[in-house]
Amino acid sequence: MEKELSGVEIRALIYSPETVGDVLLFVAEDGFADYQWPCDDVKAIAEAQGFKGESGQVFSTAYLAGDTGTVRRLIVVGLGKLAELELEGVRKALSRGLDEADKLKVTSLTTAPWGWDSLALKDVARALAETAILKGYRFERYLEKKKESSLKTLQLGYEEEQEVDVLAGLKVGVTLGQSTNLARDLVNEPGNQMTPAQLAQAAQQAGEEYGFEVEVFEEKAIEELGMEAFLAVGRASVNRPRLIVMRYFGKPDKPDEVLGYVGKGITFDSGGLSLKPAGGMAGMKYDMAGSAAVIGAMSAIAREKLPLNVVAVVAACENLVSSTGYRPGDIIGSMAGKTILIESTDAEGRLTLADAVHYIIEKEKVNTVVDIATLTGAAIVALGNTTTGVVTNDQKLYEKMQAASEQCGERIWQLPSFPEYREQNKTPFADLKNTGGRPAGTVTAGLFIEAFVQDKPWIHLDIAGTASASKPRDYLAEGATGVGVRLLYHFAETFI
Ligand code: BES
Ligand code: MN
Ligand code: ZN
Repeated sequence: MEKELSGVEIRALIYSPETVGDVLLFVAEDGFADYQWPCDDVKAIAEAQGFKGESGQVFSTAYLAGDTGTVRRLIVVGLGKLAELELEGVRKALSRGLDEADKLKVTSLTTAPWGWDSLALKDVARALAETAILKGYRFERYLEKKKESSLKTLQLGYEEEQEVDVLAGLKVGVTLGQSTNLARDLVNEPGNQMTPAQLAQAAQQAGEEYGFEVEVFEEKAIEELGMEAFLAVGRASVNRPRLIVMRYFGKPDKPDEVLGYVGKGITFDSGGLSLKPAGGMAGMKYDMAGSAAVIGAMSAIAREKLPLNVVAVVAACENLVSSTGYRPGDIIGSMAGKTILIESTDAEGRLTLADAVHYIIEKEKVNTVVDIATLTGAAIVALGNTTTGVVTNDQKLYEKMQAASEQCGERIWQLPSFPEYREQNKTPFADLKNTGGRPAGTVTAGLFIEAFVQDKPWIHLDIAGTASASKPRDYLAEGATGVGVRLLYHFAETFI
């Protein structure tokens, strides 16, 4: 099986000495000696140089391969203790190995990392394929000179009895890597390019390519639906709003069982009249990362033909400044009929999500609601850039999300939703107000959305910290991370 992806070809093949290129070996701290070192000399040298298999350790050398008489290069990466090894550790180790291969200008790398009882073969194959694809990603559209990487092929060698699992894992890994990179492409596009109309077109294109239906509502239709909160946010921009609805019915005999995904799609967030300080504003092109996550996840779900029904909705608009815009102090309506006092025009995400969530429940008849959004700076303060914040009204959904998180390595952490927090969204002048103040900002933003989910099980993902990276980390480059694509794919799997 061979896949060509952004220059690197991932190939799985039955192990044979003739096809082996330079070699990547994973070695754990325990059982250091048991690994299939290519020869004892190499093992002794690695040991003499202090390589112990600790997580993050890298050792490389060249050796004479006895089986073919050729000189090969060997890159050895430490995994740490086997008992503590997670799939994410495998991803990080491969990433280390690929960095080393890049330094050494290796063109073909072979690995056969299948010895760990604690991890399923299929999962490891998936993690390796997805990591290689994520690692190879660069956003180069606007560069005159694109960088060429030396690595052309990554070979996964396997034994015959492993074939079914390795190939199955590889296939899903390729889908997830590519779908995540699709999301990263959308998020990395600057605000002048990625307008609501453009985002809608990107969704349509993905739908055609991967097999899901996409319906786009323009302004008049959005007005007819009564989405007043959504429209208020988009009112200041010449780039008019779009409501994007994506439908995938992989279980048509159970049309009443529908999982609902809602993604925040603010293509640029200036803050509106509650203007953001200049310093933090450029990063607000990333404010549609939630919508990219649902487009990427729908693509992956459809490509893998998962047997379940999923509908995704994005209320896409731009939060700008003009005399047509909404103001602090305004009282606006919403599709659900609730009135909202605008305390800050910069708390716009929850307004668009409130209408999108109401729409997906009322019109698309979903039973479960997941929303994903770069919603609050407070999520970055609370959890940093590695962990997505979660608020939910249903502990079972959180457990499913945790299981999905373990599959893909995207870290999540639940925040409390005690009833006292709901008080912060109250005002004497309207049914709700759109900020709960600074304290517990991620919780109160989540609970604002909760007010629109009726009796549905709901889970909210705040990806303000995790959607983009200001510097490269492990297998992710600077810029959009595509967070949520893999999480929402594996979450959907828990409904099968
Ligand atoms: N898009 C921002 C949240 C954000 C901030 C994402 C930093 C990524 C990095 C959101 O629309 C926003 O402005 N939230 C306000 C809410 C406040 C006015 C209650 C915030 O977090 O300051
Ligand atoms: Mn904002
Ligand atoms: Zn925003």
